[in-house]
Amino acid sequence: MDLFQMRDFDAHERVIFGCDAASGLHAIIAIHSTALGPAAGGCRMWPYAAFADAVSDALRLSRGMSYKNAMAELPFGGGKAVIIGDPGEKTRQRIAAFGRLVDSVGGRYITAEDVGTTTADMEQIACVTPFVSGLVRNSERGTDPGTAVGGDPGPKTALGVFLGLKAAVRFRLGRASLEGLRIAVQGLGGVGYPLCRLLAAEGASLVVADARPGAAQRVCEELGAQEVSAESILSQDVDVLAPCALGAVLDSRTIPALRARVVAGAANNQLAREEHGEALMHAGILYAPDYVINAGGIISVAREYQGGATAAQVRAEIERIPLRLTEIFERARREGRPTSAVADQMARERLAAGNRRMVA
Ligand code: NAI
Repeated sequence: MDLFQMRDFDAHERVIFGCDAASGLHAIIAIHSTALGPAAGGCRMWPYAAFADAVSDALRLSRGMSYKNAMAELPFGGGKAVIIGDPGEKTRQRIAAFGRLVDSVGGRYITAEDVGTTTADMEQIACVTPFVSGLVRNSERGTDPGTAVGGDPGPKTALGVFLGLKAAVRFRLGRASLEGLRIAVQGLGGVGYPLCRLLAAEGASLVVADARPGAAQRVCEELGAQEVSAESILSQDVDVLAPCALGAVLDSRTIPALRARVVAGAANNQLAREEHGEALMHAGILYAPDYVINAGGIISVAREYQGGATAAQVRAEIERIPLRLTEIFERARREGRPTSAVADQMARERLAAGNRRMVA
């Protein structure tokens, strides 16, 4: 495997491979860019079928974090870590070994939770390194979980996705309210579940699916959602599709089957390849670029790490997500280009400006 020739390699500053024989840790930290500050991004634990898949994921996700942090106007670069393994087989020793690996990078990479890791894991990592955020101990207990500073980023991501989804609905469907709209949510985990609660509170009618047996039951019972199979969720007859599971769900097989007119969800890297942004545009589907709409969690994690922000300030920053999206939607319409291409260009311009400042 030639790292530098890999399709997802994009002049990443560093890729670190870590192994700890005693705990069985096999991990990768990819630092895409520190042009705007230390690289911040979560740690994913996943049982990748092949080592190259784990490397690709780390490369793609870390570049996505550079773009996400740049678009959210945070003073952080882009990085991501992956631990190769089944989250069900996680041990304290392995998480501690991962914490030591993060520590060895000396603050150029700051970790947080992602798919397969939890706030409890971050608490444990904090025992061995200061370069971690998203700690329960930092959250303001007793306040609305959607606005507390620190802790689980999932509810803040859900809040940003909710506000961004409403902006996309306003832009594409000309509707100020979600009342009576049918919305499909794929994945009912740390983001999908709180998102469903916000959507249902606004009167949306939910169609949901999760690969975990029984995960949809709570949403159906509590919110009156309709459960469908994980295989059919993308092609449901709905107004909006919110992918909140894993990435690469929008490709040349799934896009022709979509019936939603808006795609607005939390999952990272929803487009299997760049050209699928164009396919969505040609299909008349408004796509909310993932790393713009799902920035609520990193805004919370970043401000928690820096310290000093109030819950109200974090919420105000999350409330800027729909404004940013609307700017992208308008520019895409004006220029006849995919929203994903417009967002990529804006993010690259911000990174290039950061690089020029670093060199100067
Ligand atoms: P999670 O791991 O808590 O939940 C993901 C859920 O999706 C799980 O319940 C899983 O069973 C389900 N799932 C997996 N494959 C599926 C499939 N094919 N069909 C239906 N369901 C499936 O993860 P979380 O935190 O909710 O994140 C969801 C997505 O949002 C991920 O792509 C993540 O990278 C992204 N994201 C999460 C952020 C956060 O703050 N947690 C921040 C930004 C992005």
